[in-house]
Amino acid sequence: MSRLRDVIFAACLLAVGPVFADDVKEIVGDAKQPAGHYGFGKTATDEEIAGWDIDIRPDGMGLPPGSGTPEDGEMMYEEQCATCHGSFGEGVGRYPVLSGGEDTLTEDRPEKTAGCFWPYASTLWDYIHRAMPFQSPQSLTDDEVYAITAYVLYLNDLVDYDFELNAETLATVRMPNEDGFYIDNRPDVRAKRCMKNCKPDGIKITSEPTIVTYFDPAQTVALEAPHPGQSVYQRACAVCHDAGVGGAPVIGDTAAWAPRLELGPAALLSSVIQGKGAMPPRAGQMQMSDDDLSASVDYMLGRLD
Ligand code: HEC
Ligand code: HEC
Repeated sequence: MSRLRDVIFAACLLAVGPVFADDVKEIVGDAKQPAGHYGFGKTATDEEIAGWDIDIRPDGMGLPPGSGTPEDGEMMYEEQCATCHGSFGEGVGRYPVLSGGEDTLTEDRPEKTAGCFWPYASTLWDYIHRAMPFQSPQSLTDDEVYAITAYVLYLNDLVDYDFELNAETLATVRMPNEDGFYIDNRPDVRAKRCMKNCKPDGIKITSEPTIVTYFDPAQTVALEAPHPGQSVYQRACAVCHDAGVGGAPVIGDTAAWAPRLELGPAALLSSVIQGKGAMPPRAGQMQMSDDDLSASVDYMLGRLD
């Protein structure tokens, strides 16, 4: 009896063996593994990476070719979106409201819609492209996403009915709440990081707990309004100057800025307008006014000690 069982078992192994080997190959891949790896996975192909790499930046980077107007998008929106979001973006039942709400942002229960709350139009394009319609995400063509995004912007009175939304014009659409997002500028978050000898003088470490007050309520300062150049900086300059991309002097890095400061603010602004080294003219934002660029330079210089 047990011998018959062994024979059946061996036959089964023979039958599933090749299938199993193929499955493993599919999971593990044929690619040669770098030393020190465990032999799992495979290098992602360009095509696979492209499937994930779909984020759109506020300046429009990442947008595919294509275009659409609110007029093109109206019927598409009606057919694919209105059942949940309402014909005017007013929201059906508990589905999110997509329009209005401007006057509520400072209230206790703000209506934070994509139109009144989101800082960049690129997020709207990205979100609709990535996640909507809810029941069949990523089923829209790029032209449809442009048209429907344009229509949602139109429902929020942000563009005209014949406005053509495309990779160039999207970055020119200003959302009303863009300046509502800024880096926390309360004094305590600007404190320098301490990496050694951080214990304030006069504090003894004992076996008893010592209460150290780092926050002095007497020093509470009223919130400053955000610098007018800050939002421009976030939108157009941070991408290089936050981390020093391409040799860009890092914001707040006094040593990196010292030789440049000697040129004077006017010359620095002119470098931004004309471009310098790896920095393209107008930081690559042709639509930006001299005043905006000047405000962003001013903001950067203000971040130095
Ligand atoms: C079946 C219902 C349904 C349909 C149809 C639908 N949505 Fe949505 N939508 C949702 C739900 C649910 C959410 C919230 C998802 C979440 O928060 O994870 C949402 C969120 C959104 C948001 C973000 C709202 C916010 O403030 O966070 C936008 C913008 C949006 N949808 C646009 C669209 C567009 C444009 C279409 C048509 C192409 C569409 N939706 C079709 C259900 C739907
Ligand atoms: C694509 C990356 C990139 C972007 C975007 C960018 N910069 Fe730069 N920036 C650089 C690089 C690189 C340098 C150093 C250029 C050199 O000296 O060769 C630089 C230098 C500068 C300087 C010093 C110029 C000089 O004459 O020494 C200023 C001021 C400046 N940037 C301001 C800005 C402002 C304001 C913005 C946004 C409006 C901005 N940058 C956006 C890359 C960038």
